[in-house]
Amino acid sequence: MTPLTLHPPAKINLALEVVGRRTDGYHELVSVMQTVGLHDDLTIDDSDDCVFQCSDPSLQTGNLVERAVEVLRLEAGTHHGCRLTLRKSIPAGAGLGGGSSDAALTLLGLVGYWRLPLSCHDLSRIAADLGSDVPFFLYGGTCLVEGRGERVTPVPYTPRTWYLLVNPGIHVSTADVFRALDPRDWSDGEATRDLARDLEMGKPPRLGRNALRNALFRICPEARTCYDDVTAVAPTGAGLSGSGPTVIAPFTSRDEAVAAELSLRGSGYWTVVAPGTAAWRGISPCV
Ligand code: C5P
Repeated sequence: MTPLTLHPPAKINLALEVVGRRTDGYHELVSVMQTVGLHDDLTIDDSDDCVFQCSDPSLQTGNLVERAVEVLRLEAGTHHGCRLTLRKSIPAGAGLGGGSSDAALTLLGLVGYWRLPLSCHDLSRIAADLGSDVPFFLYGGTCLVEGRGERVTPVPYTPRTWYLLVNPGIHVSTADVFRALDPRDWSDGEATRDLARDLEMGKPPRLGRNALRNALFRICPEARTCYDDVTAVAPTGAGLSGSGPTVIAPFTSRDEAVAAELSLRGSGYWTVVAPGTAAWRGISPCV
């Protein structure tokens, strides 16, 4: 068959509230997630066995992509093989959901490639088992994400904003950030639901609060410095994506975002300017 290439995108969190702790140890979240125009490249090709190759050797073993293939083969009762080649551009452990996006697009790509009769409901269940951020990537675009991450509601909204993404080059474990979270940082999720409603009404995006920010700053002081540096060049302020440490700032034009990016030159930070992107059509049974 002709090889299939997909482009798993990064996500940012426009807001992230923690509502409480669940009995399974995970946290109950309310977040607005947005895909952006920074992506990995995933190619699916024929093979008798299951073969996975990653451009970043440190992500070769134990990659969520391999787990996604395994779980999908079991779920669909198929013995098909495939060669998956992943070229990474999204930094790992950065709060940008790169690994989750790779896994979700592996599911979507293989369902099409192997012509598996799986519904959005089936895929959402498999995705939620793989990781909390994976279900969102079955949709992409702008979504209100609730529960552990498994309740995804698309927000009808056409993104027009450009984002500056800045990372201090540090890998942070999501579990460590959640562990450092203080219950005083919990809230009721209403501000984030308001943000989703505002976007639906066509209001310009703004960054809401991220409940994980103080927890991240406690375990990773470099993240606070980076946050302060970005805040200084962002007219409408900066925010944190997921559990960080990537700092994000919205701009109304690409030029303004690039100007802010240039002013951080010499800081040693990893930076990217990327637009918010819409949900993909045609490859997901969820959209
Ligand atoms: O689901 P995932 O493996 O991505 O989560 C990584 C870690 O982040 C979990 O082990 C858990 O400690 C924490 N987490 C959480 N509540 C969530 C999502 C993640 O406590 N809703």
